[in-house]
Amino acid sequence: MCGIIGYVGTKEVLPILMGGLRLLEYRGYDSAGVVVFDGKRFRVEKAPGKLQVLASRVARKPLEGTLGLGHTRWATHGGVTEANAHPHLSCDERIAIVHNGIIENYVELKKRLRRHKFRSETDTEIVAHLVEEKYSGDPRAAVLAAVRELRGAYALVIAFARHPDRLYGARLNAPLVVGLDSTESLLASDLHALLPHTRRVAPVEEGRVVELTRAGVRSFDLDGREQPLKPFEVEWSAEAAEKSGYSHFMLKEIHEQADTTAQELQGRLDRARNEVVFEDLGLDRADFRRVRRVVIAACGTSWHAGTATKYGIEEFARLPVDCALASELRYGDYPFDRHTLMLAFSQSGETADTLAAVRMAREAGAKVLAITNIRGSSIARESDAVVYMRARLEVGVAATKTYTSQMMCGLLLGMQMGRWRGMITGAHMGVLMKTALQVPGAIQRVLEDVAEIKRVAERFKKGYDFMYIGRRYNLATAYEGALKMKEISYLHAEGYGAGEMKHGPLALVDDHLTTLAIAPQGRVYEKMVSNIQQVASRKGHVVSVGTDGDALLPTMSEHVLWIPAVAEVWSPVVSVVPLQLLAYYTAVALGRDVDQPRNLAKSVTVE
Ligand code: M6R
Repeated sequence: MCGIIGYVGTKEVLPILMGGLRLLEYRGYDSAGVVVFDGKRFRVEKAPGKLQVLASRVARKPLEGTLGLGHTRWATHGGVTEANAHPHLSCDERIAIVHNGIIENYVELKKRLRRHKFRSETDTEIVAHLVEEKYSGDPRAAVLAAVRELRGAYALVIAFARHPDRLYGARLNAPLVVGLDSTESLLASDLHALLPHTRRVAPVEEGRVVELTRAGVRSFDLDGREQPLKPFEVEWSAEAAEKSGYSHFMLKEIHEQADTTAQELQGRLDRARNEVVFEDLGLDRADFRRVRRVVIAACGTSWHAGTATKYGIEEFARLPVDCALASELRYGDYPFDRHTLMLAFSQSGETADTLAAVRMAREAGAKVLAITNIRGSSIARESDAVVYMRARLEVGVAATKTYTSQMMCGLLLGMQMGRWRGMITGAHMGVLMKTALQVPGAIQRVLEDVAEIKRVAERFKKGYDFMYIGRRYNLATAYEGALKMKEISYLHAEGYGAGEMKHGPLALVDDHLTTLAIAPQGRVYEKMVSNIQQVASRKGHVVSVGTDGDALLPTMSEHVLWIPAVAEVWSPVVSVVPLQLLAYYTAVALGRDVDQPRNLAKSVTVE
């Protein structure tokens, strides 16, 4: 979950490191640090707190050199202190290291390395001492020997004062990408941190060590045999990481959704054949015809996108679907077989639990199709097939545009599975495609009129508890609306199946609870109306999300957030937008740190 960057080249490294850390701060923001080789020795500067604290320190005391490492931390081992911030140095201060992940055998290693002088409580520092122990003149051999002894998850970047012309990286179960350029080489935990320097990148493969010099990058397996890198060009530009005049990334990303949902449809709707086309999918019609059941594996917001997709696949492909939390699935006994298709939903493509579920399914003979935003990510590389979202870079820790993109991809896939399996006709598909094209415009209309959303936010900011309820496709909206509210405003909110209210949560209805009911027109509209009445008749406060023109909802709700009419299958893609905005404006009214909420990080690469 930490952000890491390393550089070796000809330019002054400090601005490169600080620029990279600014782009990586969303990965973890407890503390930050840099190390620069000044020609004689390593100079370290680190600080607990946000990156700005480090930035003011290095502004007062700039470090000069052309080799360096940077780190932004999400604490796992050891409190948030200056000593525990990375980089860490070996006893002789000639080896510097930054790390993302968890070294699971650190207690055992620390015992073995007890004659070394430890300056922190971190698992990472052990690696600096272990490499020192292994070093006898050949840095690559030392890194390989040390890495062979590590268990757990790591993306490591290591520099040697005796070899200032090179840098080393090592990866196991944590993301690491190299940037390739003719006069410099870089390493980072996220590819977008490399984009200001180069668009030519290559993921470091699992269990590999890379050696970076100004002239290029070489990759080695743990036996020291050279292995090819697989470079590719990134399509995003560096501007994707700018706020472009918005006060927060989250607001910018919410507003991008009219465009990103349109991108998801671009070139994918074959209106002549009434089929959805996914480029370079990796599975064909025959693979899909073999499928007898689908299991979706995901975490957090991605799991909510999976929840909406489940209804789409069941409706159109007539296949049974389990939507599983990857963190549960991986420790269960799910009966995978070669007729099971796993859909792995992950924006980052690096979530540890989802990756573990992918591996488990493949080992048991199931096929895995990933839906992800990041080319070259672990989940993309380890799946049989991939649908890439076209949401572009998402910086806000709260997922917004990647959620609506994931649902677009998942629902389109469900429809096409229906076509491949002969469950829906061409004519039916034609109608579905037509309705899909209405989604971007519907989102745009929600974005253009936020007055009522802001009024509700003013009210919510004084609130205590919020119960978001929905059914069928919009059960996902209930879950996601509540997650958005709690993660950025820190107010208590729960997402619940509306039909479940009378089985327990109705007891909570009082003056302190507001029920937010997602009730657009569709198959379960009348059921939602009954559920709302059950709350209203107990004098509960109700705010609804409803379809434009609905005359009933205002009679039983204190506020209604309106969305344009869209086909039921697309309603979760639109109905979530007012709730993203509601969470955003509530959090802003409460003065929260919207883009970097406390205790969270964008990409969860540890368990
Ligand atoms: O990268 P992933 O989609 O696999 O991430 C899964 C969750 O960590 C993520 O969706 C998280 O819940 C959101 N950032 C919350 O907004």
